[in-house]
Amino acid sequence: MRPSSGLIIYCRPGFEPEAATELEQALNHRDCPGACLTVAPGRLLWQPRQGSQHKPLPLDLWPSLIFTRQWALHVSSLEDLDTRDRIAPLLESLPADLSVHELFLDTPDGNEGKSLSRLLKALQSRLVQGIRERGLWQADSPWRLHLLFLSGQQVHIGISHQQHASPWSMGIPRLRMPSQAPSRSTLKLDEALQVMLDEQERQRLLRPGMRVVDLGAAPGGWTWHMLQRGMQVTAVDNGALAPAVLQAGRVEHLRQDGFQYTPRKKVDWLLCDMVEKPQNIARLVARWLEQDLTRAVIFNLKLPMKRRLEEVRTCLDIVRAAMSRTDEGMELRARQLYHDREEITVMLLPERMSSASRH
Ligand SMILES: C[S@@+](CC[C@H](N)C(=O)[O-])C[C@H]1O[C@@H](n2cnc3c(N)ncnc32)[C@H](O)[C@@H]1O
Repeated sequence: MRPSSGLIIYCRPGFEPEAATELEQALNHRDCPGACLTVAPGRLLWQPRQGSQHKPLPLDLWPSLIFTRQWALHVSSLEDLDTRDRIAPLLESLPADLSVHELFLDTPDGNEGKSLSRLLKALQSRLVQGIRERGLWQADSPWRLHLLFLSGQQVHIGISHQQHASPWSMGIPRLRMPSQAPSRSTLKLDEALQVMLDEQERQRLLRPGMRVVDLGAAPGGWTWHMLQRGMQVTAVDNGALAPAVLQAGRVEHLRQDGFQYTPRKKVDWLLCDMVEKPQNIARLVARWLEQDLTRAVIFNLKLPMKRRLEEVRTCLDIVRAAMSRTDEGMELRARQLYHDREEITVMLLPERMSSASRH
């Protein structure tokens, strides 16, 4: 199976420039020069520079990318699909030596995607059947097939490797909004824990009885999530917490400035979702690390309108400098999640708890 040497990239609409620059620089650094082209809101194609040597792309970059939510090796594109029979030309365009274990029918985000959903539902099972009949469906294959429909006639075909890409279609985990949760922000934390930790890490790092400080907690979506996991939460915010959060018990609400608060004893998690200048948040997290006040951190950086990638890098440098001064090794992970708006989520973990360092 020989894909073309390009990539299909999925990111949040509006963040195409950041996703493009981040990826182009990372690939360039690994001797793969090329450029991205936006083909739809939140969808890009990266192509190698003409004349550059054809070599395997460094898929191990995957965990380091912040603005790319999903990616796939670009196999080919179809521009004028026959609307009377889309299945046959799609199947014919698949390489004969392809082997996949899953099919994702992807779309652009937003209304364009929604308008395609009925068509894609109708195609899904017939495509899987056709792929099976051609002998291309192998349960033990590490590859997934992506058909990115930009319209009913235009499709980009790609494959992603299960170890080097998101396991969810378009990088969006299916999360249920719990009926008692006080705010949709709860999904942001839920997604961070699903996307940025693996199963073993969740078991090691999210245990009942753990102590959490949540800065900028109101109305309490993040606090509520950690309470559901049986943890003890100190929620710091001048705003009110929703009754559902207070009723859960195991929560102490402090109406004070999150920048002034310091716990008496080291806690297991610092959460911070305060709406503040990102560098102020980075310096706050740096202080907690330097004073050894927490074992792990999840925080959001609300991004400015301009120079967002530069701002992210400045903030992460502030945090990394503090990490390098801690006794215990720490690992930094950063992602723009589906539930993140003009922001990214950053997680800091003790290295000895991370699966990466245990391999
Ligand atoms: C995006 S909301 C947090 C939502 C929360 N994570 C949830 O899940 O419901 C931001 C919160 O930060 C709080 N905030 C902003 N600056 C703060 C500060 N200096 N100290 C404490 N809270 C602050 C605001 O009052 C607001 O409730």
